[in-house]
Amino acid sequence: MPTPCEYTMYEFVRSGPPTTRTYLTSGPPLPTCLLGREGYLNLPPGCFRLEREVFIQAAASLRVAAELPCAQFLLSRRSVRRFKPDPVPLDLVLRALDLARHAPSAHNRQPWEFVVVRDRGRIEELSRIHEWSSPVARAPLAIVVLADTRQAPDSYMQDGAIVATYLWLALHCVGLATVWIYTLNKAEEIRRIIGAPDHLFPVAIFPVGFPAVEPKPRPRKELKELVSLDAYGARLPG
Ligand SMILES: Cc1cc2nc3c(=O)[nH]c(=O)nc-3n(C[C@H](O)[C@H](O)[C@H](O)COP(=O)(O)O)c2cc1C
Repeated sequence: MPTPCEYTMYEFVRSGPPTTRTYLTSGPPLPTCLLGREGYLNLPPGCFRLEREVFIQAAASLRVAAELPCAQFLLSRRSVRRFKPDPVPLDLVLRALDLARHAPSAHNRQPWEFVVVRDRGRIEELSRIHEWSSPVARAPLAIVVLADTRQAPDSYMQDGAIVATYLWLALHCVGLATVWIYTLNKAEEIRRIIGAPDHLFPVAIFPVGFPAVEPKPRPRKELKELVSLDAYGARLPG
């Protein structure tokens, strides 16, 4: 007889709309790693009364399975500096911005705004702000991420960097390519080009388009060079 399970009476359904609802009659809440995209379990139908060990194993393998697409997504992002001439549908850009606005921020102040620049004159000007900004001129449009120094005087840099990172990933998510263009010492000039007020700090410019190239991954430092355990400098074994 299997040991009675802490987790009883789940009805597992394959991913997608369930024919039977997943529910819990006793035991602690389901670990989120067991939940599929729609909040349903990714197990064959009809698995009831999973014994605890089996449950834990299933959780572990599902966690791996769930991580794979996320990891592939993160690892496949690149800085893209050449774009196809095809216009970028505004709704795709707005979808990415709509995802990006879910970025976290200090006190949830969300001190950011975005300027979508389609005007060629302004795009050309933005492409000339410094020696690494030329990718902007090759894109059909650009997005300037602005952080509000009045709303978040103590955290606008971090909040701005997080939302910009979200935006980069969100653009990747909707199939658009981009690269972060450095802005820090060109704030005034960028504000002038896009007509933004002084309290908005341009955190990043993203030229946006469909990718015309597939850049190879750039090298990264090894994990063991970066991680300490418990105290700084206590490196991972091996
Ligand atoms: C804060 C920041 C500023 C950057 N500024 C520029 C830039 O001005 N021009 C540019 O071509 N790339 C810029 N990049 C892109 C980096 O060069 C790129 O992310 C890095 O080489 C790693 O390549 P990957 O993004 O393809 O992984 C910037 C990236 C970050 C995060």
